[in-house]
Amino acid sequence: MCGIVGYVGKNQAQSVLIEGLSKLEYRGYDSAGVAILDGERINVMKCKGRLAKLEEKLNKEPLEGRVGIGHTRWATHGEPSDMNSHPHSNYEGTISVVHNGIIENYVHLREWLVSKGYRFVSDTDTEVIPHLVDYYYDGDLLDAVMKATAKLEGSYAIGVICSKEPDKVVAVRKDSPLIAGVGDGEAFVASDVPAILNHTRDVYYLDDKEFVVLSKDGVEIYSAEGEKIEKKLNHVTWDANAAEKDGFEHFMMKEIYEQPKAIRDTMISRVMPNEPIKLDDIKITKEQLESIQKIYIVACGTAYHAGIVGKYVIERLARIPVEVDIASEFRYRNPIIDNKTLMIVISQSGETADTLAALREAKVHGARVIAITNVVGSTVSREADDVLYTWAGPEIAVASTKAYTTQLITMYMLALFFAQNRNTITKEEAESIKNDMLELPERAKKMLEQKEVLQKFASKTYMYKDMFFLGRGLDYAVAMEGSLKLKEISYIHSEAYAGGELKHGTIALIEDGTIVVALATQTDLYEKMISNIREVTTRGAKVLGFTVEGNTDMEKAVDSVLYVPKINNILLPVLTVIPLQLLAYYMSVQKGCDVDKPRNLAKSVTVE
Ligand code: M6R
Repeated sequence: MCGIVGYVGKNQAQSVLIEGLSKLEYRGYDSAGVAILDGERINVMKCKGRLAKLEEKLNKEPLEGRVGIGHTRWATHGEPSDMNSHPHSNYEGTISVVHNGIIENYVHLREWLVSKGYRFVSDTDTEVIPHLVDYYYDGDLLDAVMKATAKLEGSYAIGVICSKEPDKVVAVRKDSPLIAGVGDGEAFVASDVPAILNHTRDVYYLDDKEFVVLSKDGVEIYSAEGEKIEKKLNHVTWDANAAEKDGFEHFMMKEIYEQPKAIRDTMISRVMPNEPIKLDDIKITKEQLESIQKIYIVACGTAYHAGIVGKYVIERLARIPVEVDIASEFRYRNPIIDNKTLMIVISQSGETADTLAALREAKVHGARVIAITNVVGSTVSREADDVLYTWAGPEIAVASTKAYTTQLITMYMLALFFAQNRNTITKEEAESIKNDMLELPERAKKMLEQKEVLQKFASKTYMYKDMFFLGRGLDYAVAMEGSLKLKEISYIHSEAYAGGELKHGTIALIEDGTIVVALATQTDLYEKMISNIREVTTRGAKVLGFTVEGNTDMEKAVDSVLYVPKINNILLPVLTVIPLQLLAYYMSVQKGCDVDKPRNLAKSVTVE
């Protein structure tokens, strides 16, 4: 949801900002802009469209200066347009602001500012900020930003420059991510670490209402009361190349191919033969676990789908009742939470606003919160009681792939951990599941070898307008993820249905030639699923079936079959989803869609 970056230092700001924005484009790509201080004046260049368009303009008319801010936008208030692009400035052009988040009381602030004589040129909520800073400015930018942000309601990470203080950037966050970096004679702020990784690995993870002042001497951090804060400087050890395409045409394909490694990395030193599951990062005690009466799993999108698998495996192995909630719904249904409740939040980015809000709600009511996230130092990881990292490496493509499979692995590990602590599983069963888990990386590689089948299927079906995904039990959970993947990157309408539910209404949509992907990998539900498949083929549907090796009779029931290996049924979602990811990918490529940056979407949804 918008990416911001700020720079002060010895280099030309333009190239540092553009490079930073290119690493943040996954957060939004409706428009982009920069504001650069040339020592006296602020010069702004911004336009609707991708960052490449802004770059083209800047190549023709470069902006000189060593202090600046930049923005890549995912529109919330005001359509994508040149005028609504950030940075936004005050009337004289002496103050410029980039913003990620939503100012909820902007209508009221705008009216108030208009009554004071301020004029607005955009439809954005953000534009109130430069005017407010202008209103409070009295020779001290930090003070003005503090006073201005005290008036704001909502979420924000903002970067501000002022031509009257041409050697600094002031930034602050509340409910939107922001980090600050320190280099040699230079300083940075950004929405996410990759934006500055080529310049520094020394990073401050900022908390809400912490104000930073960047200068070439470094980073100073202040509380909302204006007191200087000493914070821990973290050294980031990620591989900067992990955020590059590495020869693949798209990040999504690269990330699909990274799954065997990501799965292995997530299990390292946690899943070992002849040893109980080790989750050293989890501090919850055996006694606390025994007192848990209910678990909520709360997440959005793909992470929510991983949660549905989580419910199934935790209930099955640890015998604790689990409810799975979409984070944006959770808070508003007045859920029953107390200190016997455990909440598990799942978030690749660790910054999703709704997931964070649910986490906070649970904590207020005394629940313990375990976070499953991929981003070290993310807000979710800092606010939860316990954190389990998925070691998938940076996920850049908007469509989540390796984050999902590693979230599944983490759910299995948690379920086994709970089960071993609550004595609800025999050693033999735990051993057998762990052994199968350890084989998953190799099995995942084999799934990738089937890519031609999916490519061919996509080349025959990409022009269809609708598609159905059917499954029962865990296959239904995977069907939901397959359907979401297809929708978000190929824009083909699709629905996931529980095999047995279809006949209660939706089967009316099945007609001659309707494409159905039917998942029948779960042994105990296989026969029932075959009946459901027959219900749709009888009505003319063309079916691509998935089942485990050996179930060759499925070939008689469907048009083509894809086999997954025979392993413990609960682990199959990790493998079944891979061909569904490939299918969505090839559909998108065939249709000529932008695989990595699908329309209307952003990787990280930091607004409610
Ligand atoms: O960063 P998060 O895991 O919290 O993100 C949640 C969803 O926004 C995300 O999974 C989204 O659904 C993906 N685009 C799906 O591919």
